[in-house]
Amino acid sequence: MIELRNVSKVYPNGARGLDRIDLQIDDGEFVVIVGLSGAGKSTFLRSINRLHEISEGEIMINGNSITKARGNELYRIRRDIGMIFQNFNLVRRSSVMRNVLSGRVGYHSTLKMLLGLFSKQDKALAMDALKRVNIAEKAYIRADQLSGGQQQRVSIARALAQEAKVILADEPVASLDPITTKQVMDDLLRINQELHITMVVNLHSVDLAKAYASRIIGLNKGKVVFDGKAAEATDEVFASIYGNQNHEQTTKQIGVAK
Ligand SMILES: Nc1ncnc2c1ncn2[C@@H]1O[C@H](COP(=O)(O)OP(=O)(O)O)[C@@H](O)[C@H]1O
Ligand SMILES: [Mg+2]
Repeated sequence: MIELRNVSKVYPNGARGLDRIDLQIDDGEFVVIVGLSGAGKSTFLRSINRLHEISEGEIMINGNSITKARGNELYRIRRDIGMIFQNFNLVRRSSVMRNVLSGRVGYHSTLKMLLGLFSKQDKALAMDALKRVNIAEKAYIRADQLSGGQQQRVSIARALAQEAKVILADEPVASLDPITTKQVMDDLLRINQELHITMVVNLHSVDLAKAYASRIIGLNKGKVVFDGKAAEATDEVFASIYGNQNHEQTTKQIGVAK
């Protein structure tokens, strides 16, 4: 369970990323965060695993404060949280297998990892993860030889090999074509349903949010302006999230047809 208690984030230059956010995300939820560019979506995700320090409040992960955690404790909390980025964040010149195995580094000593000593069990886990996203046959190919959609699946497999309990995905399909977008979103949904991994996904597209989310959180200027079931998110709700009463114009702006 992820709990944000009165969380605010102000950047050193004074920009407000998050404004007094109070909410809880339960295990197994598929949450989609929507909002205009600059609304605070990335700040929200990055604050959860403390890639960003928050300015105020506290974030709890399964009852442990990641805000206060230090050293090994922070390391252990983070191990349960996988992260997926728009640009995949793979080591492009390494094999797919190596990239997925890097999800295991949190479980071993630094020395072992420097020497690249992964166990049979690690390799089996990595291979299982690749099978789950249907790219096991690419295991020994260099990551940069794959299409964008395949690279994103490798990054999903890396989070699975990590045995993450939560996956945070920051605009995971923003650089993919519509067909690949559907495949990657379907992968995330299947993993959520089959493995009960909690998903928190930032998306630009309202249609995708409606199609995949069990819960939608709308951000505007760092504030939560909607938090409810996907079915409750009407056109009017989206218009208010996007700060525009004219729905036609809104849909045009955010490319709903994508
Ligand atoms: N590293 C940064 N330094 C200063 N301001 C930032 C930084 N990252 C984001 N911001 C500001 O914080 C606000 C939220 O940004 P962000 O979380 O990136 O929004 P989104 O992901 O929804 O586009 C914006 O006003 C943005 O300009
Ligand atoms: Mg962003």
